[in-house]
Amino acid sequence: MPTVLKKPVVVVTRKLPDAVETRMRELFDARLNVEDKPMSQAELAEAAKTAHVLVPTVTDRIDRSLISQFGPQLKLIANFGTGVDNVDLDTARVRGIIVTNTPGVLTEDTADMTMALILAVPRRLAEGTALLKDTRRHWTGWSPTWMLGHRIFGKRLGIIGMGRIGQAVARRAKAFGLQIHYHNRRRVSEEIEQELEATYWDSLDQMLARMDIVSVNCPHTPATYHLLSARRLKLLKPSAYIVNTARGEVIDENELARMIEAGAIAGAGLDVFEHEPAINPKLLASDRVVALPHMGSATMEGRIDMGEKVIINIKTFLDGHNPPDRVHAAMF
Ligand code: 8YV
Repeated sequence: MPTVLKKPVVVVTRKLPDAVETRMRELFDARLNVEDKPMSQAELAEAAKTAHVLVPTVTDRIDRSLISQFGPQLKLIANFGTGVDNVDLDTARVRGIIVTNTPGVLTEDTADMTMALILAVPRRLAEGTALLKDTRRHWTGWSPTWMLGHRIFGKRLGIIGMGRIGQAVARRAKAFGLQIHYHNRRRVSEEIEQELEATYWDSLDQMLARMDIVSVNCPHTPATYHLLSARRLKLLKPSAYIVNTARGEVIDENELARMIEAGAIAGAGLDVFEHEPAINPKLLASDRVVALPHMGSATMEGRIDMGEKVIINIKTFLDGHNPPDRVHAAMF
């Protein structure tokens, strides 16, 4: 009698788009979180005892303690997301667990959101909308000296992290007449520099001191934690704006909030925060901050593409091959 092979157990920690969940049900013994209630560490540990594959998101902390409670059959963490700072990569490697992510498919959406913030903050969109919605204040009509923001055309944009998303931001920003500057661990190819008319700064400190707008587009790693520290934030011109669609941990959020409040930085467009979902109240109170709840990749198309990537990674792994989006700690 042929042995009936059981489908591998795939634990998905959050609700995913219907199309992705349907496909996962067909292919795997998918344990889905249709109510989308974030799982506690204890619930994750319980689920990981029998799972063959874990599909976490940015909201799950896959740390050493959790990984140590995984059943021995769990050999793949297929992260739904590009950033893998939610996963302890070193512990996973030591335990022989492969980690994959979803690069590429959220590049354009995240770059669009970055550009939206680059446009929104200097032009005071948050203040304008807040004013019209505030029933206690009354818009008395147009005035030539009222609600004056700043032109972005011709200004200097400093991109920190010139990977896929950084380059996609540069492409858009160039079309808006911004001058592109960047700092990256490695200089990008001459061809890309020429296409983007981008100036490379080996010294982040020197770049920061000269920029009108700074965009954070690097991953969060031990090396980039508080890359924009209190010391570095002080290098910025008081007229400079900061945009962050990468990870909140890259900026010292308390210091940023303090400096914006003090008028030492002109404003910020923030899609990510250091202690999500908590946000420094000073940032929310400031009318010079446009704040979004981590929406950079939040398009239906993007989230379906991410799900498809997760499925391909799982399938390839289960078929005994190297999954296409395998992550190594050295990549970050
Ligand atoms: C996702 C992201 O929303 O992929 C990433 O790294 O930051 C996001 O756009 C989230 O991380 C999904 O887990």
